[in-house]
Amino acid sequence: MEVKKRYPGGGDPQGYDRIVREVFAPIYPVIAGQIVARTGKKEGHCLDVGCGTGALGRAIAGMSSLHITFLDHSPEMIARSRDYAEKEALIGRSDFLVGDISRLALDDATMDLVVSRGSVPFWNDWERAYREIVRVLKEGGHAYIGGGFGSVALRDEIVQTMNKRNKEWRRPFQDKVRLYQEALPAILEALPAAQSKMIDDESGFWVHIIK
Ligand SMILES: C[S@@+](CC[C@H](N)C(=O)[O-])C[C@H]1O[C@@H](n2cnc3c(N)ncnc32)[C@H](O)[C@@H]1O
Repeated sequence: MEVKKRYPGGGDPQGYDRIVREVFAPIYPVIAGQIVARTGKKEGHCLDVGCGTGALGRAIAGMSSLHITFLDHSPEMIARSRDYAEKEALIGRSDFLVGDISRLALDDATMDLVVSRGSVPFWNDWERAYREIVRVLKEGGHAYIGGGFGSVALRDEIVQTMNKRNKEWRRPFQDKVRLYQEALPAILEALPAAQSKMIDDESGFWVHIIK
């Protein structure tokens, strides 16, 4: 019998893919626009951590000339990211890595922008993950890590749709989000050689780091 490995936050790639296409799709261009506007990064190399099916990285690629590295610990999510990048003719400026945020197989100071949406609650060592993010950022590079829906209108619409599909959809990460938000100030305080600020507004809850 084939036993499929389950990955925290990425245990059902097929189901997640469908939800992204049918429900979450409108948020990615909005969030990508906010990231590009807030970080000013439109060129160089971007890492999308916990990319899932790659929707955020592809939206950023669509409004910039950034090369995107899609990273996820689920090989199936990475396979889906690759398929979409091929379909959207982004393969020439994409690469794909199966791996864990806690041990990035990337050289120091190689990224201009690191982004991540909806993945951080599932990471098992936030302190180490943030140190990895800062390590791979170039001097002057930005990171934008967090979660949200881009706007209140999108959030309300999506929460309503998701509640109709499955009332318990937030359960796997609700407690982790609370723990993460409590732990975050001390983690950011201890980050070497980087400035950071928390953004908690209608776009969602994000950390913006500048190295
Ligand atoms: C809720 S999905 C979000 C996907 C995508 N960023 C989006 O917004 O559509 C969370 C993703 O994070 C990935 N993930 C969770 N923990 C991870 C880790 N420690 N390292 C790398 N990827 C991780 C999961 O496999 C999953 O694809």
